[in-house]
Amino acid sequence: MRLLKDLFDNNRCWAKSMVQDDPAFFERLVGQQAPEFLWIGCSDSRVPANQIVGLPPGAVFVHRNIANVVRHDDRNCLAVLQYSIDVLKVKHILVVGHYRCGGVKAVLDGETSGLIGDWLRPIAEVEQRHRSVLDIHSNPDQRWDRLCELNVVEQTLSVARTAIVREAWVRGQELAVHGWIYGIHNGLLRDLDVTITGEEEVFSHTSRRVELLTQHFVAAR
Ligand code: CO
Repeated sequence: MRLLKDLFDNNRCWAKSMVQDDPAFFERLVGQQAPEFLWIGCSDSRVPANQIVGLPPGAVFVHRNIANVVRHDDRNCLAVLQYSIDVLKVKHILVVGHYRCGGVKAVLDGETSGLIGDWLRPIAEVEQRHRSVLDIHSNPDQRWDRLCELNVVEQTLSVARTAIVREAWVRGQELAVHGWIYGIHNGLLRDLDVTITGEEEVFSHTSRRVELLTQHFVAAR
């Protein structure tokens, strides 16, 4: 209970295997971190950031919370955004949701009370905003998957609307915000094609994005 020996055994094996392949691996990481990517994903244990995209330590700055929500009153998330953009100069922000997300399901089940309910309020708003899109689906699992996708689209926009990201664009910093979704049933990522690379795209493309997604849902039925 106190020592968790297995995990330390695993850790020693892993560290050993890393230097077997590349003796200077850890030494190189000591000097600096220069990740090109910020990953904003769900805390779900089945969606581990680095493993899914096959990247080693040092390559991805990671922020995870329940249902990959980006709230403008969340100082934790905003500090991560600011540090990764202003200091680390990441080039890509990956907002990665996943199908069958428990946080999204809680919203669909009307679980709006307590700390979790309060945390998930932005997703409840996404559900209300896109009720007509969701109503295309009578199958509850399809409805669940659609809300997972729509949540990614909205959280991608939420990232792009932060002052931190907008100021980066204003000063000419190269930065793209991507919206992806991961299938825990097949291990595959899907690009929802809602990438935003500049402030002008935030407003002009918002409605078009939701429209495109709606068409995609209809086509995929
Ligand atoms: Co989740």
